Amino acid sequence: MNLTIIGTGYVGLVTGTCFAEMGHHVTCVDVDARKVAQLRQGKSPIFEPGLDDFLKRNIAQKRLSFSTSLADACDSGEVFFIAVGTPPDQDGSADLQHVLEVARQLGEHLKSDAIVVDKSTVPVGTARMVQETIEHHLQHRGADHRVVVVSNPEFLKEGAAINDFMKPDRIIIGTEDAHARERLAELYAPFNRNHQRLLFMGTRDAEMTKYAANAMLATKISFMNEVAHLCEALGVDVENVRLGIGSDERIGYHFIYPGCGYGGSCFPKDVRALCHMARDQGIEPGILDAVERRNQAQKERLAQKIIARYGEDLSALTFALWGLAFKPGTDDLREAPSRTLLEHLIARGARIQAYDPVAMEAAREHFPKEWFDRRHLMLAEHQYAALEGVDALILVTEWKPFRHPDLGAMARLMRQRVVFDGRNQYDPHQMRAAGFYYDAIGRSSESRDPATIIALDPRPGSQPR
Ligand code: UDX
Repeated sequence: MNLTIIGTGYVGLVTGTCFAEMGHHVTCVDVDARKVAQLRQGKSPIFEPGLDDFLKRNIAQKRLSFSTSLADACDSGEVFFIAVGTPPDQDGSADLQHVLEVARQLGEHLKSDAIVVDKSTVPVGTARMVQETIEHHLQHRGADHRVVVVSNPEFLKEGAAINDFMKPDRIIIGTEDAHARERLAELYAPFNRNHQRLLFMGTRDAEMTKYAANAMLATKISFMNEVAHLCEALGVDVENVRLGIGSDERIGYHFIYPGCGYGGSCFPKDVRALCHMARDQGIEPGILDAVERRNQAQKERLAQKIIARYGEDLSALTFALWGLAFKPGTDDLREAPSRTLLEHLIARGARIQAYDPVAMEAAREHFPKEWFDRRHLMLAEHQYAALEGVDALILVTEWKPFRHPDLGAMARLMRQRVVFDGRNQYDPHQMRAAGFYYDAIGRSSESRDPATIIALDPRPGSQPR
């Protein structure tokens, strides 16, 4: 099939290259001429394992091309995927201006009947708006092409997007139109060979499914982060609790890892947008609001722990930071917990030596210039270089090379043996045995029974009378 993908961001680029890899002819369109020029040379603007190989191979075999002109792409396309950004508006709702601009252009330039697929995450009812916008512009120029707008949300995880696309858990196709259903079933047939992964539903159902999936996952994380906070207060090790509840199949092990908060381009934005949709309908989103609030609070946890130990003035201290990206496998810094932490530490005068296996360039680009100029933030050459002379190590992203560090080398390099672990990567007993002060998320500083907690924490009301 001849496919056109509009928007070469994360979703569009992965979708386009993977369809090309499956033998389709794909044109990816983007308004950013520099990006298009770079992509034509097979260079990916984003870090995503496996993407570069797919790009180069499919460009060389002439199945994948890039263009800045949607009008040209309209000459030959049959299926058009809208994969442009839907950034949050000031009030948290999804900003649809880019999606609707694409719809307008399609209405102006389509040369024949077409299927238009919404890949972008868009509020319920957007497919209808896109359909109306296209039809309005078709009518305006007297064209009577038949256009059907389908909702086909993506469920790609950054860092594993190629695999998620090639081996999806499910492919959701939201349309009431029989012909569109047939064509998309054909398009996705290679991904559906051994298992039935196609799920057909109405466009509005599909739009909602995307938000509900992300909000559910974010809820699991925020729930666990709240439990972790409680565990700390009660002298419980949340890692034992995690294993204890994850073994219940109804709960499962996925997305119950406590940490220093979720980030990225999807969860924060989609939870807020869903809250907004609820309020638009006069429904108070109690759970979703709490998910968002807990996540904001969770991003502050590491800073709180550090301030609790050292006080408000951190100007005499240097910290090592391991990990800047919002999660391993990506250089994405959007809504990353590292940023909240850096803001708190730098505002209190601290110096930071940071290392991330892939997000260093992104950090140089996106973090405030004055952090670097005033030498509050320095980027280290490798993970151990970041440790030289520091008062503490803070782990924010659980990249694999951070999982089994050389404790001896750490002890030699660091001024003080202190580790704040935002991703519960280490064994507290082992860390303490090696002479480290170790503080993680939801793991009490010592294994304490309730009686000793009362003795150790003489807070008002907790003293035995
Ligand atoms: C997510 C969805 O998983 C994907 O299906 C959707 O299409 C886009 O949004 P992504 O944002 O790439 O994907 O990352 P994901 O792996 O889901 O992690 C999101 C955040 O949650 C990260 O900051 C991660 O560190 C955090 N997380 C995840 C936890 O804190 N605990 C967990 O148990 C799992």
